[in-house]
Amino acid sequence: MKIDVLTIFPEFFREVFDFGIIRRARLAEIVAINIHDLREFTTDKHRMTDDRPFGGGDGMVFKPEPIFNAVEKILGTCEREKYAPQTRVVLLTPQGKPLKQAGAKEFADEVENLVLICGRYEGVDERVTEALVTDEISIGDYVLSGGEPAAIVLVDAIVRLLPNALGSETSAENDSFSNGLLDYPHYTQPRDFRGMQVPEVLLGGNHAEIEKWRRAKALEKTQKVRQDLLIKENS
Ligand code: ADE
Repeated sequence: MKIDVLTIFPEFFREVFDFGIIRRARLAEIVAINIHDLREFTTDKHRMTDDRPFGGGDGMVFKPEPIFNAVEKILGTCEREKYAPQTRVVLLTPQGKPLKQAGAKEFADEVENLVLICGRYEGVDERVTEALVTDEISIGDYVLSGGEPAAIVLVDAIVRLLPNALGSETSAENDSFSNGLLDYPHYTQPRDFRGMQVPEVLLGGNHAEIEKWRRAKALEKTQKVRQDLLIKENS
C-alpha cells in the first residue's frame, strides 16, 4: 500500500511512523508512507494555504488550490472519476463517518493508493470534498485541532491489518472489535505479583476451559463498558 499524507505540519509526522509495527511494515515494503507539505503546492508569494470564509464567520478555511495541486501531482489527476482502481482520497474531519475496525479492515483489504488530507481550522473548501474526496472519516465524537492525529490513528489501524504486517495472523483476529467484543484480559509472569494472582484457569493448560473463560471475560468487559457493541451484535 502507498499512503500520501497532505498536511501543513509535516514535522508532526517526523517520527511517529518510525516505531514498532509501522516501522517494520515500511522496512519490509508492505507500506510506503510519504508526507507532503501543503505549502509546497501553493502558487502565491505568501504561500497561503487558508483564507477567510465567504459569507463571514469565525476562523479560516483551507483553500482548494494547494490540495487540488497536491492530489494532481500524487495521483496524476484531480478528477475523482479518473482515479485508478483501489485509490481512495480521505478527508479527516469530525463531520466524517466514524472509523470502526471493519472500516480499517476494508481499507487494508481493498486499497492500494491512499491519500489522506489533514483538515485544519474551521474546515476545508467544500469543492475539495465534492471533487476529490472519496471518504470523509472521523476518529470519534470530539474535535481535534487538526486532522493530523486522526491521520496517524487511521494509518496505524490500517497498516497493522496489511498482510504480514503483524508477526502472527491470529493476533489481529483476536483484537478487540474483530469479533464484536472487547478483548479478554491478559496475564504474564510472575504468577504472583505483590500478592495478586494469575487466574488459576490460565495455568492449567486446558485450552477449552481457557477459551470459555476468555469469552466470558470478553463478554463481561463489553457488557460493563460498551453495551452498545452487544446491542449491535444481536440486532
Ligand atoms: N479533525 C478534527 N477532529 C477530528 C476527528 N474527530 N476525526 C477526524 N479528523 C478530525
